[in-house]
Amino acid sequence: MTAAREHFSSRIGFILAAAGSAVGIGNLVGFPVNAAKNGGGAFLLMYALFVFFICLPVMVAEMAVGRKTQKEPVGAYKTLSNGSRFWSFAGFLGVLTPFMIAVFYMVITVWIFGYISIILAGNLDYLATGAAFGDFINSPYIFIAMAVVAAIVNFILVAGVKDGIEKAAKVLMPTLFFMLILMVIFVLTLDNAMAGIKFFIIPDIDKITPSVVNGALSQAFFSLSLGMGILITYGSYIDRKTDIVGSAKLVALTDTAIAFIAGLMILPAVFSFNPNVNPAELSDSSVSLIFTFLPKIFLALQTSIGYFAASAVAAFFFILVFFAAITSLVSILEVPVSYLVTEKGKSRKNALLTLLMTAGILTVCATVSFGMVSFFTDFVNYAGASKSLFDVIIDIFYDTILPLNGLLLCIFVSYRWKKKQLTKELSDGNESYANSWVEKYINFSLGTFIPVIVCFIFINTVLQKFFS
Ligand code: PHE
Repeated sequence: MTAAREHFSSRIGFILAAAGSAVGIGNLVGFPVNAAKNGGGAFLLMYALFVFFICLPVMVAEMAVGRKTQKEPVGAYKTLSNGSRFWSFAGFLGVLTPFMIAVFYMVITVWIFGYISIILAGNLDYLATGAAFGDFINSPYIFIAMAVVAAIVNFILVAGVKDGIEKAAKVLMPTLFFMLILMVIFVLTLDNAMAGIKFFIIPDIDKITPSVVNGALSQAFFSLSLGMGILITYGSYIDRKTDIVGSAKLVALTDTAIAFIAGLMILPAVFSFNPNVNPAELSDSSVSLIFTFLPKIFLALQTSIGYFAASAVAAFFFILVFFAAITSLVSILEVPVSYLVTEKGKSRKNALLTLLMTAGILTVCATVSFGMVSFFTDFVNYAGASKSLFDVIIDIFYDTILPLNGLLLCIFVSYRWKKKQLTKELSDGNESYANSWVEKYINFSLGTFIPVIVCFIFINTVLQKFFS
């Protein structure tokens, strides 16, 4: 007999942990920047529609698979498919993906930590110069930052689900929310804030192009932590009394609200404070461009509030992002940890050690792939360009395998596990679920248009990324 699986101690604990996973760099940085470059209101509208009509059913399905099987993706797919090789492979992808995404997420979290220290040392102006980012990510200091981030994540994960993940989320999430609101109130008191708000809230339908649609859907998928096995794993820690659909709605709502509020904070800044920063600069934005862009926005505040206050605001913002990133990173690593514990019989401590070591080595390789080590910088060539290890990880795992995992999950739940079973699982904790219109919508959409749309995006991305 294996020990009983640990469960979240309460529904709210679970919701906060899942929201802690969902709310991350994607909300606070990715969303506002994407909204800025993709037509503001038009992007917001598409994003909100996608969250509720496409992502929410996928989220519910992931949680249901997890709770039903009480396992992480490999075990879950294996159990529900009676050991099918193909589906076990799908489960394997569901563990490998978060592991690789952890590497790229860790790299970015480390940069954020570094940014906080540089700003606190009084050097916001240095960060805002174009060269600073490149200097910083290639300095030895980055390895100290990496050790700190790994230690914090390790500390939370060693303590387990209830005492680690749930407790961290219960403290960090409300703090983050409170700080975010303070920032928005502050930003709204500045001159010309309204121009940015209008751009963000009022959709201009003409701006809805295929690339806006594609961008909004990928952003929504990533932001809700879908396609990573995370919600399967977190689902396995929910007790049978918890209403999954209701909880998922709250998680999606919280995630979207935080992205929206982050937009209210960043967009007025982009459009009003600094006439010298052109949003078109973001049009080809890569992750690194964002990191040079944000300090510029904050530095621009100095004309109205002075250098010291501008630095304080910037530090405050990056601390927020750091909190959000930690709870996300914890959730990403929980998947492979849970895999090693349940499927490979390792102790939690051992599993974590193995993972942090391997992820750590890969993170170091990805970190030095911005110029420090040429082997990793010019790692491979495709689509007519030389790519760094960091780019490769993003292209393969984030852009390509993530939607593929979502697609596999929809097909698996609808046609292998079967919708009847899904309904049965979702009725535990919500007696009125069966035969409600929500049930009909979830079952219909998961088996029809959601996989079609996700498949379309998957093919489109593969063609664009690897064959253009
Ligand atoms: N959802 C998190 C964000 O928005 C990132 C994340 C992705 C976390 C995938 C876990 C899994 O930043």
